Amino acid sequence: MGDFNTLTDIVRVAKSNLDKGDWDYLVGAADTEASLRRNRAALDSWTFLPRILRDVSDVKTATQMLGQTLRIPVLLPPIGSVQAFTEDGGTAVAQAAADFGVLQILSSSCMPDFETVAQEVPGPRIYQLYLSGDQAWLDDQIERTINSGYIGFCLTADTQVYSRRERDIMKGYVPMQARMATGTMLDQTGVNYQSTMNWDTVAHIKEKFDIPLVVKGVMHPDDAKQCVEAGVDVVYVSNHGGRQLDHTVACIDALPAVVEAVAGRVPVVVDGGFMRGADVIKGLCLGATAVGMGRFEALAAAAGGAPAILRGLSILEREIQISLALTGVSDIADLHPGLLHRGQPQGASHALSAFPLLEEGY
Ligand SMILES: Cc1cc2nc3c(=O)[nH]c(=O)nc-3n(C[C@H](O)[C@H](O)[C@H](O)COP(=O)(O)O)c2cc1C
Repeated sequence: MGDFNTLTDIVRVAKSNLDKGDWDYLVGAADTEASLRRNRAALDSWTFLPRILRDVSDVKTATQMLGQTLRIPVLLPPIGSVQAFTEDGGTAVAQAAADFGVLQILSSSCMPDFETVAQEVPGPRIYQLYLSGDQAWLDDQIERTINSGYIGFCLTADTQVYSRRERDIMKGYVPMQARMATGTMLDQTGVNYQSTMNWDTVAHIKEKFDIPLVVKGVMHPDDAKQCVEAGVDVVYVSNHGGRQLDHTVACIDALPAVVEAVAGRVPVVVDGGFMRGADVIKGLCLGATAVGMGRFEALAAAAGGAPAILRGLSILEREIQISLALTGVSDIADLHPGLLHRGQPQGASHALSAFPLLEEGY
């Protein structure tokens, strides 16, 4: 995959590899797509106030989460129907994550299933499950998750009902995640189990199972506090990349209050609009332990499967190292809010505005 010299190259090739249905599913969001644009606009409005004349000859980008070393502070979040972007689906992402040294969170609405991925690619991984059965079903799924060697279990709390994504609706495009929300998540009595999920579900999992629990989709500091009190092991700030509730606060803007509420008791992860190394540094400055990069992962998968994801992560690592050095910091652990200054975004924000050269025809 030496062909890719920049992340812009990866995005350009991803677009040329996908048909319109899969492309719109990847870049699209809910309703007016305002949450998606706001994620990016807020990231663009944070500017650096760098320090100088500090020795940055050896920058450190590794961090620890759930007992694992992440080579860079990045997670590959759950991507439903990732097999639409690369035929090996979740296995391709698993392979790249293992080869590079970051954690993948595998979605229950992608192929192959979590047990097959675990057999095909050994290594630490988190499993994200959409509920499509009763408590006995859930218990069985978690037992199988533990038996398959997953090091964490993730509930996505921002998807209790499936949103309206107009790009998909207008073309009759039905991804696996939507089929699950309207199909198998309903049992014969018509129960949509995902919509019944509540704090008792969290309490039940924590009481019964010895596996770290990630709650993804936290936006409000009170929910973050309640997560910690309920024993949740990772608080994950996310608006699902703008694909669920429209008009939310940008994730990076929700982050500081969540970090304050969590008060260092558990790691905080954030995603939503993060595409470049500098974006990752901004998330860490505002208190995140790691940053999830969903469309980044999906675009790289579409550009060339596991090798392109691996190459994308290497380019991203270089961007992170350079941004770190140029802010005058030699270890990501030393990043802090004082390195940021709120400014104005410089142009229109959208799913791909982190790649402005595309608009110039590169
Ligand atoms: C194509 C696609 C499919 C997704 N499927 C899931 C999913 O199955 N489960 C989940 O929790 N989040 C899912 N997400 C949300 C991502 O995990 C992540 O929260 C989001 O992509 C972050 O925003 P970003 O794309 O701007 O990085 C999906 C996102 C995309 C782009």
